[in-house]
Amino acid sequence: MSAQISRVLSYGPEAIAEAARLILAGQPVAMPTETVYGLAADAGNGEAVARVYAAKGRPSFNPLIVHVRDVNQAIEIAEFNAQARQLAEQYWPGPLTLVLPLREGARIASLVTAGLPTIAVRAPAHAAMQSLIAAAGRPLAAPSANASGRISPTRAEHVLESLGGRIELIVDGGPTGHGLESTIVAVEKGELRLLRPGPVNLGLELEAGGRIEAPGQLRSHYAPLKPLRLEALKAREGEWLIGFGPVTGKASLSTSGNLVEAASKLFELLHEAEKSDCPAIAVAPVPDEGLGAAINDRLRRAAAPRT
Ligand code: TXA
Ligand code: MG
Repeated sequence: MSAQISRVLSYGPEAIAEAARLILAGQPVAMPTETVYGLAADAGNGEAVARVYAAKGRPSFNPLIVHVRDVNQAIEIAEFNAQARQLAEQYWPGPLTLVLPLREGARIASLVTAGLPTIAVRAPAHAAMQSLIAAAGRPLAAPSANASGRISPTRAEHVLESLGGRIELIVDGGPTGHGLESTIVAVEKGELRLLRPGPVNLGLELEAGGRIEAPGQLRSHYAPLKPLRLEALKAREGEWLIGFGPVTGKASLSTSGNLVEAASKLFELLHEAEKSDCPAIAVAPVPDEGLGAAINDRLRRAAAPRT
């Protein structure tokens, strides 16, 4: 679903109330942060997150950064060790994103983490994004608010040029302070790994392999541990079939053929198939248009032989 016209409202109580209303209705909203403008959605609502991908026209699913008010809210969704807690206390609110183990039972849509057992969190320093998280009362997933392949937006006009007509609301908070995305650091048992350099300098070297923008470059890239067959119209012996549209299986990505619903269920159903008694997984054909292209990209990666 796409808006015909994108409204632009200057940051203030009215804009935040309207933005919160849209967030709770499952719609993405473009918001200023202290780094770049982000396209925010309720991190607990898989269809809202799927609409972020649809608006960006991104051809693949990458895990997204989840924005929280503070450490207390972050602890509800991520597991903090002493080192992570110290970094958060020192740099939050601010442009430092921590990749931490996802807390079991956290209300986070699997599309947000792209099925990974870790989650990227940060508490933004911008008053507009802080107010929206408070007004919505929940963590917000937000990648940069640009169409796929375009540079990150540092002004509301950039968002309008890139996503105008594809989202309902842009909150204009003027130019962003840093103009560069947050630093991303993974915190693992006593070890820090720099995944993306940014405004916060911790004196770490970027890992060999360089930037991680491309999903294939993520070190821990979710793929099921069972063989996966694509374009399946019927289950063969031993297969757990994931249906779509007219193809029915053990479960369906979307019986009505809705790609937003399918994207929101993709990782959950892959996990369910993996945990089942069946030794193999099959997936029905999904049309290669719009969000379907991102779904198929992920399925092809999951079906590729392990190296
Ligand atoms: O400054 C920012 O961080 C901006 C503003 C809007 O807050 N947001 C932003 O989000 O840049 P996004 O979603 O475009 O950046 C996500 C990056 C990707 O490169 C992704 O690979 C990495 O974070 N990432 C997210 N979750 C991860 C995880 N569990 N493990 C490793 N990398 C992760
Ligand atoms: Mg980006």
